[in-house]
Amino acid sequence: MRSLIDILDLDTGEIDALVKTALDIISHPDTYADVCRRKKLATLFFEPSTRTRMSFEAAMYELGGHVISMTDGASSSASKGESVADTAKIVSCYADIIAMRHPKEGAALVAAKNATVPVVNAGDGGHCHPTQTLADLLTIWRGFGRFSNLTVGLCGDLKFGRTVHSLIGALSRYQGIKFILISPEELRLPGYVRGDVLDKCGIPYTETKSLEDALPELDILYMTRVQRERFFNEEDYVRLKDSYVLTPEKLAGAKGDMAVLHPLPRVNEISVSVDRDPRAKYFEQAANGKYMRMALIMMLLGLTV
Ligand code: NCD
Repeated sequence: MRSLIDILDLDTGEIDALVKTALDIISHPDTYADVCRRKKLATLFFEPSTRTRMSFEAAMYELGGHVISMTDGASSSASKGESVADTAKIVSCYADIIAMRHPKEGAALVAAKNATVPVVNAGDGGHCHPTQTLADLLTIWRGFGRFSNLTVGLCGDLKFGRTVHSLIGALSRYQGIKFILISPEELRLPGYVRGDVLDKCGIPYTETKSLEDALPELDILYMTRVQRERFFNEEDYVRLKDSYVLTPEKLAGAKGDMAVLHPLPRVNEISVSVDRDPRAKYFEQAANGKYMRMALIMMLLGLTV
């Protein structure tokens, strides 16, 4: 039985297979309409979500399966003190696969160790978010046709932004990848990602505070929201929240075929007038998430068409 807790649980061959399946789903959705017949997905969300939960649920419905959902920890037995381990054991009795989001780092791993069905980490605190990375990768593939030889700028909250940590892990396995890490001093990429991933894989990277300086070099600009819910104090959040705002004026300094990605939700870091620019790929990215989650559900359940 397979779970997906960290993006590195999938090798690059499996990533390629998921992309291939997702592209086939986009072209031939009817072929997949019954593949999960009589299967149930449980979504357990102990933190807010729009895209991740709804795209998982839409994915299961479009595969012909069913969904049972716990959208709010406060309405579940977690509020009575039930552990993640016990919840995972119980939900395994009712569902064939579990997608779980939790504010604590490592919670999905605990769930996977106790569940008797596959568990997908839909975000564990400030740690990682592998299925967002799947959405990011499909967007990159559809835009560039490759995962290699790309200069990727990651901008904003690199400390708490779990999507950034997972994307770095995924891309660090390809040739010719270079990262430019753009953040305020307080929100720099954690040492464990720099050491265990970038340094270990010998990936070149630079750190800067200036988005404008980095922009001309980039093939991909990955913007992120400052993660208010992970701050210990509101004053720091208020001081840092508008560190970066991408505007059409700033984009003028970027390559004509650069892609702007953002896991969303956007707060203030991309001006809405950027949405009209053909380089803005973040809404397509959200749509891609559903197709990759469909491919992933099939893979983890061992189903093919
Ligand atoms: C991200 C998350 O939950 O980490 N959202 C998402 O799943 N698309 C990014 C964020 O909340 O900023």
